[in-house]
Amino acid sequence: MTEKTAQKAAAGTDANALWGGRFGSGPAAIMQQINASIGFDQKLWAQDIAGSKAHATMLAAQGIISVGDCDAILSGLDQVAAEIAEGRFTFTVENEDIHMNVESRLKEIIGEPAGRLHTARSRNDQVATDFKLWVRDAFDRLDKDLQALQAALIDRAEQFPDLIMPGFTHLQTAQPVTFGHHLLAYVEMLGRDRARMRDARARLNECPLGSAALAGTPYPIDRDATAAALGFDRPTANSLDAVSDRDFALDYLAAASICGTHLSRLAEEIVIWCTSQFRFIRLTDAFTTGSSIMPQKRNPDAAELVRAKVGRVIGALNGLLIVMKGLPLAYSKDMQEDKEPVFMADETLALCLAATTGMIRDLTPDPAAMRRAVEAGFPTATDLADWLVRSLGVPFRDAHHITGRIVKLAEEAGTGLAEVPLDKMQAVHAGITDAVYGVLTLEASVNSRTSFGGTAPSRVRAAVEAAKARFL
Ligand code: ARG
Repeated sequence: MTEKTAQKAAAGTDANALWGGRFGSGPAAIMQQINASIGFDQKLWAQDIAGSKAHATMLAAQGIISVGDCDAILSGLDQVAAEIAEGRFTFTVENEDIHMNVESRLKEIIGEPAGRLHTARSRNDQVATDFKLWVRDAFDRLDKDLQALQAALIDRAEQFPDLIMPGFTHLQTAQPVTFGHHLLAYVEMLGRDRARMRDARARLNECPLGSAALAGTPYPIDRDATAAALGFDRPTANSLDAVSDRDFALDYLAAASICGTHLSRLAEEIVIWCTSQFRFIRLTDAFTTGSSIMPQKRNPDAAELVRAKVGRVIGALNGLLIVMKGLPLAYSKDMQEDKEPVFMADETLALCLAATTGMIRDLTPDPAAMRRAVEAGFPTATDLADWLVRSLGVPFRDAHHITGRIVKLAEEAGTGLAEVPLDKMQAVHAGITDAVYGVLTLEASVNSRTSFGGTAPSRVRAAVEAAKARFL
């Protein structure tokens, strides 16, 4: 803002040059402050200029403006784009938003023809178009970030297809699983995130431009042409819906929230795994911090911050749902509040994805700690029960009960299941033979779980290859 325009803004004297025809004086300073969106919607400049170029080209093709005026508009818009890209553009709050900032600069550059650009459109269809284009690009960027995290997880899974760790339910040791299998679980979640974003991207890809303020326009416009020029599949079918629809922003935030939830769960596991009680993994200095008072500490701050920052993304979804839920058709200025939550969520999610990818590549598992932990929890009790069913024909419910009694013996003796002597087991069930010990080791347990999607190392190796083919 120049000093002169700043003074005017404070005094609130001049009517707006683009829409102020019926206004005697300008807005109060506080009105300007609450009304202006240029502070954040300048992020849409490239989309705004692309939309205007498509619109002007169509207007000329339809004979609505002259080819000469169109040429002037296109070259003027190129100049505006260059000025913004090179940081030579001065955004002003007097011009409220990105649309008016671009148009008023265009007028300074090319004069009268600039006034013809806004024929047969409104800022309502303009902003819906710009924002859709931006969200579409954001989905494409995120897809790459998600794929990079999947690649990191798949790499690490490939490295550890048979490293045994406790699998938990209720955060209690349940059955042994492999570290590779555990990591591949997140690859699936991220695959669904990518699919959700692809769905949302396909759904948003209808062009609002030409819906004008809300009712369409009397000019003989060609909406198919502008839609195609901007890479949309088709124009939107209903003008009222087109200017008041923000489902694409909500879809974005919903998909981002679910994705963030996955990242937060992984972050929570990393935090747990790094504790001195678990010690399943170690992060290097690159992804941890020390304590200023406790010299022994190595804190997994990046994981904690991923877990926490996801709260903002979920908050953004809630915030925009609440903005939208009370709005009658068609456009209301409330909808200007759609952009900041999406921009913020996008920045946050990209940061969380990058930090998570970094941690996955950085971590070193501790096989001995994992084994100690898994051995402590009678993790092969289910294998014992299954052996009673398969080898002795005992009904599963009874096998469960018999196994429970043997677990109790081991607990009392302070040993693992494999160390309970045969005669003690036979006292619980006379049919038990030596062969039972074959299923009580951790290796036997994971090796036996060969069902599709199971944790057997052979399965995990195949799942790694399948994941590469599906996702990378
Ligand atoms: N800056 C506005 C927004 O982001 C552009 C649309 C303004 N439309 C209007 N009728 N005032 O929503």
